Amino acid sequence: MQIIKAEKSRLSEVDFNNLEFGANFTDHMFIADFKNGEWNNSRIVPYAPLVMSPGAKVLHYGQSVFEGMKAYKDSKNQAWLFRPEENQKRLNLSAERLDMPALPADIFNSGLEELLKLDSEWIPTQEGKALYIRPFIFASEETIVASSSTEYKFMILMSPVGQYFTQDVKLKIADKFSRAANGGVGFAKAAGNYASSFYPARLAKEEGFDQVIWTDDATHTLIEEAGVMNVFFRIGDKLITAPTSERILDGITRKSIIDVAKNMGIDVEVRTITVKEVVESGKDGSLKEAFGCGTAAIISPIYAIGYQQEIVEMSQKENRWSEKLKTELFNIQTKKGEDKFGWTKQVTVN
Ligand code: PLP
Ligand code: COI
Repeated sequence: MQIIKAEKSRLSEVDFNNLEFGANFTDHMFIADFKNGEWNNSRIVPYAPLVMSPGAKVLHYGQSVFEGMKAYKDSKNQAWLFRPEENQKRLNLSAERLDMPALPADIFNSGLEELLKLDSEWIPTQEGKALYIRPFIFASEETIVASSSTEYKFMILMSPVGQYFTQDVKLKIADKFSRAANGGVGFAKAAGNYASSFYPARLAKEEGFDQVIWTDDATHTLIEEAGVMNVFFRIGDKLITAPTSERILDGITRKSIIDVAKNMGIDVEVRTITVKEVVESGKDGSLKEAFGCGTAAIISPIYAIGYQQEIVEMSQKENRWSEKLKTELFNIQTKKGEDKFGWTKQVTVN
């Protein structure tokens, strides 16, 4: 792999005490090109703008998929990734649905490892912070014929971050707009899924909500997931989350929480959950907690949920499972606690 190092690090210019999510990028980025049916030309270069054709397909048709993962440091300054093979597999699952070529695992892994070696100083060490990693593939062929590209780029960017939501959130249940439909791309981490969610999210924001909880497109009666998160509800003493489907992103944080919660002795139910059940349990007080989860969001407690004209609030204000689960997960990710599940992978950075 060709490596061109940045002449000067920008690390000292970043205020690690006030990290805006995704606004600061590390000194280097990884790139590989897909051309003539194969991936080639793996390289690391200083982080800089790209030169590309305005006719590149991604700009016109949105043929692009991405991943989100994090690197953490333990108390001995060792770097760790959390379930990276899950991101690698999901990237290719997304790519397949968007008719993009699979990326060999060794390009993903070696790119990630070399990049982390160069920029390991950028991994934050403060509680709740991490180095967010954004692998992505996009169509770079210069033609605006509406068909799959024959050329792509795979890139990895990295950005030191704090938690995506810094406070508990208030979410609105969708009763008109949809994020995904059967036969569509909801299960994929496709750029267009996010683009189409911004307008409903902005309307929700104007009403005072942080994000939208998506419901099924056919009836808007079943809870699916939230803007950049999967969602869990604690009703009575059960922790409930919707099953994944072709409309829902199979979140790595979600499946980790299911295992961690069960291991803590929490009764977890993966089952259909209706809007009616959430609203009614909110009214009778049995809706104790709700939270969203994701790589960026970690675990974000939801303090209120709006549905049409009604707002329900969570009844449990202290000793929340969301906090316990967050600590447990964070301890695994940063090696403070035992990793019973074998989820963490050390990265050799020096
Ligand atoms: N759902 C959506 C739509 C997301 O964008 C994310 C974030 O990646 C998630 C769920 C959570 O997935 P993960 O835990 O793998 O980050
Ligand atoms: C992630 O959690 O990795 C996401 O993809 C969220 C992102 C869209 C900010």
